[in-house]
Amino acid sequence: MDHFLYRDGALYAEDVPVAEIAAAVGTPFYCYSTATLLRHYRLFDEALAGMNHVVCYAMKAASNQAILKTLAQAGAGMDVVSGGEYARAIAAGVPGDRIVFSGVGKSREEMRAALEGGIRQFNLESEPEMEVLNEVAVAMGVRAPVTVRVNPDVDAKTHAKIATGKSENKFGIPIARAREVYARAAELPGLQVVGIDVHIGSQLTDLEPFRLAYRKVAELTRALRADGHDIHRLDLGGGLGIPYTRSNEAPPLPIEYGAMIREELGDLGCEIEIEPGRLIAGNAGIMVSRVVYVKSGEGRDFLILDGAMNDLVRPAMYEAHHDIVPVVEPEAGTEQRPYDIVGPVCETGDTFAKQRMMPPLVAGDLVAFRSAGAYGAVMSSEYNTRPLIPEVLVKDDQFAVIRARPTFDEMINRDTIPEWL
Ligand code: LLP
Repeated sequence: MDHFLYRDGALYAEDVPVAEIAAAVGTPFYCYSTATLLRHYRLFDEALAGMNHVVCYAMKAASNQAILKTLAQAGAGMDVVSGGEYARAIAAGVPGDRIVFSGVGKSREEMRAALEGGIRQFNLESEPEMEVLNEVAVAMGVRAPVTVRVNPDVDAKTHAKIATGKSENKFGIPIARAREVYARAAELPGLQVVGIDVHIGSQLTDLEPFRLAYRKVAELTRALRADGHDIHRLDLGGGLGIPYTRSNEAPPLPIEYGAMIREELGDLGCEIEIEPGRLIAGNAGIMVSRVVYVKSGEGRDFLILDGAMNDLVRPAMYEAHHDIVPVVEPEAGTEQRPYDIVGPVCETGDTFAKQRMMPPLVAGDLVAFRSAGAYGAVMSSEYNTRPLIPEVLVKDDQFAVIRARPTFDEMINRDTIPEWL
């Protein structure tokens, strides 16, 4: 459920007409709904009620400071994967002890910054990283709280580019080697083992792969405890999928996911952490774009939009489907027609949808890409020297620009000219 609905024939973001925002900020732009962000965060929080837990929002999905602050004020922790994300979490007011640090390539500088600023735990992804963190912590005279990310070798049944829990993926250490690796961690004076971490992929639409992975984590918890490790925290990663279309089967709900966690892991007495990104931000955001031209081609019509692959790369990168809806609600019974929906970037891959059925549209009409809140703005670029598009946050009947569109001068002046030119 989200808060982008038609009302009186027009698309609204909560209580604000989307067309009003477009008139104020220009197109294209991203628009987020506070109520949807908070609702999704709370669904996870409630799903784990009764278990000691923290919901660490995976901010890679959407990391604007205003979004982070909205979630932080509701009590969310954060999952960060870079020094930059760590700095964002701190700047948004998230206490260090609610920030977990994931990622396969953490640098010494990133480790140091997190140890100085406070960190709940590092999720270690390899033995070399473990040795380096130990060195950094020892040099600082501290002990770094750690989990080891295990790779359970389960098939997440999602797009190959976003599956992470198979043995051929670069993530984590093979679960079969976990006892050895934990034994080494226990020897290192700069580390304090606190638990286990697992994350098997993104946009999972079935609970079974999660269940298989979590069952392996439960077994491992018992084995590691028997080896003498103090395993009291389980980080279960993110990955629960969202409905990208209205027609396809709905993925499991957070409440069902929470019930499964309780079933598989509830008796271990561990603190549970989850790292959802997409489910919190995905349907809390739309990208709004304007039709620049309608072009009749050979046997097909193109809707050429002012938004492009640099603004929303998911269709080009993962063949992802986003529902695209007109901002003016079509009248009931309006006949639909197929369009190829494309952007102005000079690549054939700059195609959002092929032969998508839409009501007839003309130049100047506004359309909204649904489910664009996660992995939308954060993955955008300035390819073709197209400015990063603004982000807008709506709350009830108010809206605010939370990232402004840069001017051409601002973009150009970010470059510096060497003295010999
Ligand atoms: N935790 C870890 C360690 C992760 O690697 C990820 C996502 C998450 C949590 C959050 O997963 P989520 O709940 O959002 O599924 N750009 C791709 C998705 C990449 C996901 C990467 N890792 C896309 O647009 O579909």
